Amino acid sequence: MLVPDFKRATRPPRVEAGAPSRTAPLHSPHDRLQEAIGLSEAIDLDVRDSMLVPVATPRPATLFGTGKVESLKAMIAAHEIALVIIDHPVSPIQQRNLERAWNTKVLDRTGLILEIFGRRARTREGRLQVELAHLSYQKSRLVRTWTHLERQRGGYGFLGGPGEAQIELDRRMIDERIMAIRKELEVVVRTRELHRQGRRRVPYPVVAIVGYTNAGKSTLFNRITGADVFAKHQLFATLDPTMREVRLKSGRRIILSDTVGFISDLPTMLVAAFRATLEEVIEADLILHVRDISHEETDSQAHDVEQVLADLGIDTLAADAPILEVWNKVDLLSAITREEAISAARFAERRPVLVSAVSGEGIDRLLDEIDKRLGRSDSVVEMLIPAHGGRLVNWLYEEADVIEREPLDSGETRARVRVAAEKKERLLAQARQAGAIIEAST
Ligand code: GTP
Repeated sequence: MLVPDFKRATRPPRVEAGAPSRTAPLHSPHDRLQEAIGLSEAIDLDVRDSMLVPVATPRPATLFGTGKVESLKAMIAAHEIALVIIDHPVSPIQQRNLERAWNTKVLDRTGLILEIFGRRARTREGRLQVELAHLSYQKSRLVRTWTHLERQRGGYGFLGGPGEAQIELDRRMIDERIMAIRKELEVVVRTRELHRQGRRRVPYPVVAIVGYTNAGKSTLFNRITGADVFAKHQLFATLDPTMREVRLKSGRRIILSDTVGFISDLPTMLVAAFRATLEEVIEADLILHVRDISHEETDSQAHDVEQVLADLGIDTLAADAPILEVWNKVDLLSAITREEAISAARFAERRPVLVSAVSGEGIDRLLDEIDKRLGRSDSVVEMLIPAHGGRLVNWLYEEADVIEREPLDSGETRARVRVAAEKKERLLAQARQAGAIIEAST
């Protein structure tokens, strides 16, 4: 695992099409190394060695300088390393040259993330999106190899490598597959829309958990749902949204959805694959942004997450943005930093909730806060439904949340129902039609 450490004065050049699209704050090289190791372990790679490699001037042919390439070669041979991961975009030329020099496979950051996506995608749509990203990646590398080679050797392939005709053929095959996948995706997405509309008829608000890799999303999800979902020290433990129904203290039912972790500098061509797994987030009624508050880069991680949410079209800056920050892992804070965090939370614009998903501390407060945030515009209606009001009762179960239902001796039913603001008028109209008597309404 190699993480190029560029001198800050000369920012790393964007070498290829898959380079990051946004300018995230620069994470410390050490932190990038930790993240990259975590990413590799997420696909069960046995990381034999990892290091920061200082790069003064990136070389177009090999990225690293000749001396570095040589010394790394000896190390790679000594450790019998089969795969070298470089946590940086590596051009096709660089990749080929390094693979030859080291006699190993070389993977760059985009390649690594694609590999992880490929292993983790479980839904049909997730898998198709990953394949699409993979093909676009391959295609961009074909094109780039060709342009690089052509520039270097004046357009004639006497140095070996695939000829122009072969590349043209490969490109055409990739294009055909891409088109086939796009068509299939359309169908898959349409079916999913139908399913979602189906679910939407159940008037449960959706609460989506998002956050940086390893922030503790799955642990929190499990803590809240008591569900036995995959939670371990693994990045991307959850690529496909996992959804569970949860009943809050007020009786409100919600659907809690766990999502894939964000990473720093997500390559542009992978955004669509992410999107497929983040659809629930776009439509969520409330987003829980889980942060590892004990992490020294917690602020820059939060910035990354907000940036991705903004890319997805969520207005993260709006005062009434449907986002609730959850400051997780408070159990890891020292007494002093804990005090600081509590006071920072008190003064933060969007009142974050401090929790420990592991110890359970703060979880009750979090659930209350979710309840409160979702309930801001709700109404509670109490009514007396006549004996023949079965249709109304059905409607209430489908479109609202029946908190209490009491059958009376008279054959009538007294019901207390919570309803979202936008449905209240319809509820009252239905009730009138059924001859129900409204006894109270807030
Ligand atoms: P991805 O699915 O990779 O995005 O990760 P995640 O955000 O779902 O993180 P996960 O729940 O897998 O937790 C990552 C690690 O942090 C695990 O080792 C958890 O045990 C640990 N962890 C989660 N919450 C807490 C917490 O409140 N306190 C402490 N001490 N550790 C925690």
